[in-house]
Amino acid sequence: MPSQIVSLVVNGERREFIAAPGVTLLASLRESLGLTAAKRGCAQGACGTCTVLVDGRPEVACLVAVETVAGRSVRTLEGVAAGGELDEVQNAFVDCFATQCGFCTAGMIMVAEALLDRDPDPSEADVVEAISGNVCRCTGYRPIVIAILEAARRRRGAVSR
Ligand code: FES
Ligand code: FES
Repeated sequence: MPSQIVSLVVNGERREFIAAPGVTLLASLRESLGLTAAKRGCAQGACGTCTVLVDGRPEVACLVAVETVAGRSVRTLEGVAAGGELDEVQNAFVDCFATQCGFCTAGMIMVAEALLDRDPDPSEADVVEAISGNVCRCTGYRPIVIAILEAARRRRGAVSR
């Protein structure tokens, strides 16, 4: 099968590029569009570090053939900070020491964004469930859970930074 032109809406902007058949969404974002926040860890769907949102839902981009999401809306970490300002989730990750080496952080933040978009007041169990597909080798997970709950509070306006 020949290469094809694929069109996606990435972080609100329509982007077109040439992709070989079967090339992944992750490779397209990183290599065709220069968006390198989503990381390649296991490349087998097991670590979550490549997580992006497709039509608002978390997907492991290493397992998605890009032609299967043609025309759809993709959100990456690059689309989270508006005008260079970190959002509540990103600020809470900084303030709660939820990032160390940072390799898992983009995926964790995208999962958190999806969770808080669908549930502004998640329980701790909801947060644990939401990040259950994302591996972190550094933090022991607790600071990440605390950061997401803190971000939810800030987003609801209950606590200002
Ligand atoms: S790189 Fe995609 S799940 Fe690990
Ligand atoms: S901060 Fe290093 S893997 Fe999570």
